[in-house]
Amino acid sequence: MTPKHFGPTKLDAALVPEIARQWGTPVYLHDQAFIERSCEQLLGMPNAYGLHVRYAMKANSDRTVLRVVTAKGLDLDCSSLEEAARAFAAGVPYSRMMLTTQQVPLDEERLELEEMIRSGLKYNVCSMTQFRLISGFAKENRVDLSIRVHPGAAGGGESQTRDTGSEYSCFGVHLKDVPTATAMAAELGVRFTQVHVHIGSGGDPDKWRENIDRELGFVAEYFPDADTVSFGGGLKVARMPGEKWADITALGEYAAQRIKAFKEATGRELKMEIEPGTFVVANSGHIITRIIDKKLTNEMNFLIVDGGMELLSRPLLYGSEHPVAIVRQDGALLSSEFDAVATGASKPFGIVGRCCESGDSVRLDGDGNIVPVQIVEPEIGDYMVIGGTGAYSESMSPENYNSHRKAPAVMKRLNSELVLIRKKQTRQQVIQNELEVEL
Ligand SMILES: Cc1ncc(COP(=O)(O)O)c(C=O)c1O
Repeated sequence: MTPKHFGPTKLDAALVPEIARQWGTPVYLHDQAFIERSCEQLLGMPNAYGLHVRYAMKANSDRTVLRVVTAKGLDLDCSSLEEAARAFAAGVPYSRMMLTTQQVPLDEERLELEEMIRSGLKYNVCSMTQFRLISGFAKENRVDLSIRVHPGAAGGGESQTRDTGSEYSCFGVHLKDVPTATAMAAELGVRFTQVHVHIGSGGDPDKWRENIDRELGFVAEYFPDADTVSFGGGLKVARMPGEKWADITALGEYAAQRIKAFKEATGRELKMEIEPGTFVVANSGHIITRIIDKKLTNEMNFLIVDGGMELLSRPLLYGSEHPVAIVRQDGALLSSEFDAVATGASKPFGIVGRCCESGDSVRLDGDGNIVPVQIVEPEIGDYMVIGGTGAYSESMSPENYNSHRKAPAVMKRLNSELVLIRKKQTRQQVIQNELEVEL
């Protein structure tokens, strides 16, 4: 089975002015049907002795998104106590969460963590310090642990900043410490029943495949109690035409074959776990902005739009590319990069946001220079829509920079009805925690 969607969900251009009229611009747009289909595809991934899919909620932590995803049967991967508490507040029980965090919970946070673990949260130990601190509790309460192993192999991320296997990455218990950790665990009678490796985000799918073999090697060598092997997230999607996406069916088939071979060699049946974020939501999302100004210079023609890095920092942070569509005020699609639509002659425009930051653009090269985008020239008042923005946009943006307010979010439901899922931040909310002090 080939994934049916490997690019951004199709933009219904006629909806754009309607959404802008109701909720203003900029605004985030999500497509429930797309998210549900992604979940179904992931749950249908081939496997040997069972598959458990967790949604990496850091990709988009909005409660409606969490509810859609968990209703489809995915559990959650949380990166902080705050994320776990947020998911709980959205109605997800702790028994459906795993915590993989850089935090070292002490004092009140420690008590909170213990309560979460007692309620069924799976704790994925990510450092020797974390293990030392939790081992006594795990022993007393007979809690089985998961362990994140640093794989000691680079190249799993789409960029250096998303690689979690190189010597520059600090995530997980390093291989050199694994024998110490397992010896301590054996002495205490604490079990690591799950081994977890996340090699990075959006890297070459072949690297994901290589990790399967490497990780099964760790399980065989160091973890006799493990009944589950988590291959992490990182499944690549294609936001732009020509990008190579992860064929999850082929990856599942490969994993199943290697897990069966592991059983033949060891007699042990392992359940497979994955925790994608990007794959679930990235291509379900659009950001709708309005063109508010034009500046035609001798060197470059600029379009200024009313939303940029404060809604989507991936271009500035990673040099990531997102497809751009131009929609007229009457809802006609003028051009779309992903669908290769151009209703007339296209021209290069540098597209910039409203922030006082030279890198506030939807398209930048590796040196931070603005790269012009080929589009059909719009008028001021028309819309510029950015695709592939469902993941790591509203959950990972420098919101409130220049005191811009966090944009609202709308979801297109299964019956095509549009519903507001998050209100626009108010000016009062931006400043509400600032205190009046005597000067
Ligand atoms: C431990 C872990 N798991 C899963 C993910 C999700 O990655 P992606 O969104 O690329 O699938 C991440 C991303 O940073 C991660 O750090």
